[in-house]
Amino acid sequence: MYPKVRKAVFPAAGLGTRFLPATKAQPKEMLPLVDKPLIQYGVEEAIQSSIQNIIIVTGRGKSSIEDHFDVNFEMEHLLESKKKGDLLKLVRDISDMIDVCYVRQKEALGLGHAVLRASELVGREPFAVVLSDDVIDAEIPCLRQLVDIHEFFGASVVALMEVPADQISAYGVVDAEPVDHHGARDRLFRIRNMVEKPKPSEAPSNLAIIGRYILVPEIFDSINAIPPGAGGEIQLTDALKHLLRNRPVYGYKFEGKRYDAGDKLGFLKATVEFALRRADLGGPFREYLKSLSL
Ligand code: G1P
Repeated sequence: MYPKVRKAVFPAAGLGTRFLPATKAQPKEMLPLVDKPLIQYGVEEAIQSSIQNIIIVTGRGKSSIEDHFDVNFEMEHLLESKKKGDLLKLVRDISDMIDVCYVRQKEALGLGHAVLRASELVGREPFAVVLSDDVIDAEIPCLRQLVDIHEFFGASVVALMEVPADQISAYGVVDAEPVDHHGARDRLFRIRNMVEKPKPSEAPSNLAIIGRYILVPEIFDSINAIPPGAGGEIQLTDALKHLLRNRPVYGYKFEGKRYDAGDKLGFLKATVEFALRRADLGGPFREYLKSLSL
């Protein structure tokens, strides 16, 4: 049996080329959805899933992520002197939220490589991986849903979602058979095979891997064992496929809505929907949208 999942790894060393020019001098993880940076949504999801230990894999030009989760004395002082209690709480809550560790990925050599950089901080215990440009809105946090499956089977679990055929090549795609779980057969799958970014004609299904994983520590051995794959990068999907040789891997079609906030259109959709849901902004924003002659 594995110990409980306590740690979440956030790969954040990517170059964010899909969001240029905004990401030329700013990490994509810091792009704000309404008023919160993308990475904070992921960190809050981890905390709400009882995962307190956050490990962020950063690279060059990512220091604003570290500053964001650190204390900002000047700002706290200013807000305190101006008696802006609400804002002060907002700012303090972020630095009080968690203990964050950082590790550097010097070159962007792929998602598998980024995860491997966290191996010493993770140790030999199961852990979560969160890709913060996949923002997931769910009643039960997506990571929590995956942790429950992991605890039941004692195995790795990836989040799955059906995607249209013309988009499948942007993802890791699985070949999987449905598994009965608490009488339901429509959400849980045992994975037989997987391919990173297949051509549409070679995709084994329409089930794509979304950026939430619970991984057993043996994944580090698999990452070490594989050669570079799609795009010349060390792919996490290839490592999971290697792991499949002697460990089961499950896929779970999570309940909730996922936004691809690393993509310009996906980011806009998320911004509009999250703003509409906000108690302080939703009303006037809805009125504004209605006033547009679309
Ligand atoms: C990564 C993974 C891919 C997964 C995707 C989900 O790809 O490599 O398997 O389907 O995240 O968002 P990326 O989007 O970083 O190219």
